[in-house]
Amino acid sequence: MHLTPTSIYLEITDLCASRCPMCYTAGHRIRGTQVPLELQETVQMLLAPGRELGLQGLTISGGEPLLAPGLMETVRAALDLGYSINLLTSLFPHSPKKLEPLLSLMDSPRHQIVVSYDSLKPVEVKRVRGRGSGELVTASIRWLVKKRAELGSQVRLSSNTVLQPANAGSLLNTLSFLLDELGFDQAMVQQRHDYTKISPDVILPQPAPLRSPAEIQLLSQAARQVFSLAETDPRLAPVCDNLEDWLRFLNNPPTIQKTCQALSHAFIDAFGNYRGCIHGVVLGSLRRTPLAEYLNSEPYLVFARFSQGCHLCTHSCS
Ligand SMILES: C[S@@+](CC[C@H](N)C(=O)[O-])C[C@H]1O[C@@H](n2cnc3c(N)ncnc32)[C@H](O)[C@@H]1O
Ligand code: SF4
Ligand code: SF4
Repeated sequence: MHLTPTSIYLEITDLCASRCPMCYTAGHRIRGTQVPLELQETVQMLLAPGRELGLQGLTISGGEPLLAPGLMETVRAALDLGYSINLLTSLFPHSPKKLEPLLSLMDSPRHQIVVSYDSLKPVEVKRVRGRGSGELVTASIRWLVKKRAELGSQVRLSSNTVLQPANAGSLLNTLSFLLDELGFDQAMVQQRHDYTKISPDVILPQPAPLRSPAEIQLLSQAARQVFSLAETDPRLAPVCDNLEDWLRFLNNPPTIQKTCQALSHAFIDAFGNYRGCIHGVVLGSLRRTPLAEYLNSEPYLVFARFSQGCHLCTHSCS
């Protein structure tokens, strides 16, 4: 078992203007009882030690990173330290004053901006994202593509679409828009996962994906279409590249065959809590336990062993 992660997965803020009913980070927001990580803590206690341990990648997630007060400084510090950056964003609200400098700062194919884009249809965006305007997000994504071209930035543009009943019918049109019309470098498709508080002690009860037979049929059909297209288009990347496991996830998750890859990331939420995976319980705190110590701690090692046999999701198995 390889226990040292290769990258950091940081939820840089819990702030977000959307209210996606699916959001797995909703349970990570415990404002009032916990203090968000400060920029200085992030750099000195996480990013610098991470590089000393040989970690090379930094995924910046949230909440919505564009709303994080210290986003630009964090990106600058990570670039100085030599990280390859993966910035996840919903582009909501539209933030040209942050995105334009980011396109310039992250001007290399080593770095990637991953835009959440779930549907071309505004009514479906409303269902998936809870609020916001589909038209505005589409205008924002067009702006991003145009601005990257204007600046000649080499940053990669990827999209992430979370497949669920609300957007399954329009999925192929959405992917064609992203890849053929906008020219995104990559379009990832992810299944919706509803797990929270996964731990070696308490795997169950978890909200097993409550899908009706009709929904399972709809999602299975969309999954088959995506995998079929991906055979001829390398830009299309279903997360967990195994159709059979996607179908197992829809019908009987514990039968998934692929091994979970959550160990390749060190997960830290906006309050400095370590988590074994994005669906996992808190295993420690960056403020109390330095990263190197955490990666040798009993809670981490127990979770690490557990994750190698956990077959509940396809979220981390690519
Ligand atoms: C938590 S969000 C944070 C970044 C940003 N706010 C966004 O939405 O892109 C990171 C990614 O997780 C995806 N996501 C959120 N909830 C999910 C769920 N239940 N299952 C699968 N993916 C999910 C989002 O669509 C997004 O692509
Ligand atoms: S925009 Fe991202 S962080 Fe915000 S609720 Fe939606 S998935 Fe969660
Ligand atoms: S398979 Fe991995 S990422 Fe998914 S719930 Fe289990 S430990 Fe977490």
